[in-house]
Amino acid sequence: GAFFAPIQEAGPPSPTKRHIKISIIGTGNVGMAITQTLLTQDLADELALVDALPDKLRGEMLDLQHAAAFLPRTKIVASTDYSVTAASDLCIVTAGARQIPGESRLNLLERNVSLFKKIIPPLVKYSPDAILIIVSNPVDVLTYIAWKLSGFPSNRVIGSGTNLDSSRFRFLIADHLDVNAQDVQAYIIGEHGDSSVALWSSISVGGVPILSFLEKRQISYEKETLVKIHKEVINCAYEVIKLKGYTSWAVGYSVANLAWSILRDQRRIHPVSVLAKGFHNIEDGEVFLSLPAQLGRGGVIRVINVPITDEEADHLRGSAKTILELQEHLGL
Ligand code: NAI
Ligand code: LAC
Repeated sequence: GAFFAPIQEAGPPSPTKRHIKISIIGTGNVGMAITQTLLTQDLADELALVDALPDKLRGEMLDLQHAAAFLPRTKIVASTDYSVTAASDLCIVTAGARQIPGESRLNLLERNVSLFKKIIPPLVKYSPDAILIIVSNPVDVLTYIAWKLSGFPSNRVIGSGTNLDSSRFRFLIADHLDVNAQDVQAYIIGEHGDSSVALWSSISVGGVPILSFLEKRQISYEKETLVKIHKEVINCAYEVIKLKGYTSWAVGYSVANLAWSILRDQRRIHPVSVLAKGFHNIEDGEVFLSLPAQLGRGGVIRVINVPITDEEADHLRGSAKTILELQEHLGL
């Protein structure tokens, strides 16, 4: 008889919960860090992996499947054929060239734009209702490219943006103050990388706004410390890339954190790359930059029009200008 004899009075299967499927495009350092984190966080029923290197792709799939005894049951499929991504709720794009030590993210633009022209259309074809999270760099420009190529409404095209920069900022502040990073609220907005903007007024520790706390106590030197910490954040990626050749673990947790907020409809506020035109007098063109945005099952629910200083707004508009100049040459 059957290995497991079905019990006679077994009725119809209980109504199954909605099947959650996430596709990860690009199974390199970043794609696999995201995949591994998603697996341990038990977010999806199915993970589909896509890459251009068939052997690497199959190897990563088999290696993850072999961990099944230690993980929540998750279907893991992989193919170089984009049909494997069909009916995805979320597509996370990490495919593309990465920086060599000392190279800026913007240097990757040409190579990765031509890649996106091949990657985005099949994703859209097989999952017309999906939400896209773009991770490849330069992530703000590539999120704009993905938005243009996909034809999706802007609320369904999100760049991982400064969710990672803000995590680094929170870690460094927490480390300086010897507190838990989860008790530090701090937002970095704007461009993911060299021209990011620290929202000083947003920094609070255990709910206490830190700058007014320091000003009340005339501890002005701490503002210099915070400025130094922001500079360290901007240097983080260059330092890690110089040391290990790439970054992966922090961005893996950062993107899995976004996926959770979206697919579990958490309505949490994250600094992510969104269509920023119309915010903070950014009017010169369609540009994606990180702003605090509320995320839920439909993608971006709303962008928070966070009060910022004139200096912060000028800095933000400066990043927008740089990015728009780059985009103008792309002819999209
Ligand atoms: P990697 O070289 O380890 O992986 C890139 C993968 O893309 C490779 O497996 C390659 O085969 C694949 N690929 C290339 N062309 C493809 C195509 N046409 N279709 C499907 N797959 C293709 O690079 P890594 O370290 O994973 O970085 C990937 C990207 O993520 C880079 O652009 C990097 O700058 C970016 N990144 C972004 C971060 C962020 O916070 N936004 C943080 C860390 C990396
Ligand atoms: C980072 C780069 C690679 O880790 O975007 O921030």
